[in-house]
Amino acid sequence: MVNKISAEEFYDNYAAKYDDVAKRQSNANLHNEMLKIFQKYNHHQGSILDIACGTGLLSELLQGSFEYTGVDISGKMLDYAAKRGYKTIHKSIETALAEIDSQSYDFVFCLSSLHFVEDAKTAIEHIYRIARQAIIISLDEMTEEYIKNFVVPVYDHSKITIEDAIEDYFIIGWTSSSQGIDIRTRMIYVEQNN
Ligand SMILES: C[S@@+](CC[C@H](N)C(=O)[O-])C[C@H]1O[C@@H](n2cnc3c(N)ncnc32)[C@H](O)[C@@H]1O
Repeated sequence: MVNKISAEEFYDNYAAKYDDVAKRQSNANLHNEMLKIFQKYNHHQGSILDIACGTGLLSELLQGSFEYTGVDISGKMLDYAAKRGYKTIHKSIETALAEIDSQSYDFVFCLSSLHFVEDAKTAIEHIYRIARQAIIISLDEMTEEYIKNFVVPVYDHSKITIEDAIEDYFIIGWTSSSQGIDIRTRMIYVEQNN
């Protein structure tokens, strides 16, 4: 077992390199897939809550007129998101979501992040409560080996039950640069019936 550090410390140290790595190889597949889904359902405008937004890369990928608010535990990642025009909430998912009003954002995204949260079920319940129009979540499959070797504590939620998803399938989402392995990612799209 490696010595573990917090997600905040890991991503504060990683922030300056994140976009390069994400664009070049590691997160490209899951970001492309997310874009494909979002375009398929013809969304062009509205407010977005980007949970664990990181550097705000999402805003570079989506075409349209969107207002972004990002939650993240890493202040350094949020500094980049703020430069991209995000309103920022510097809190953990576990603290922030419970404080956000119901149906207060058109779209809620949570990409490649729920594996950092032990209680993903509660986080997903909040996501359903907060979104007015649609939700996009990705759930990375965390193998026992990955969980053991990655320096931040992570959990496998890839088999969790998701209600009423219109899209729900696995792809090869990204490649772990630290472990040199492909990670399977479950892509989920839900529309809200209000
Ligand atoms: C792999 S990055 C994904 C960033 C972004 N969603 C994307 O797709 O490019 C994971 C992000 O989750 C954030 N994070 C990790 N644990 C968190 C937590 N418990 N609460 C809030 N943010 C967290 C990290 O700081 C990091 O920015």
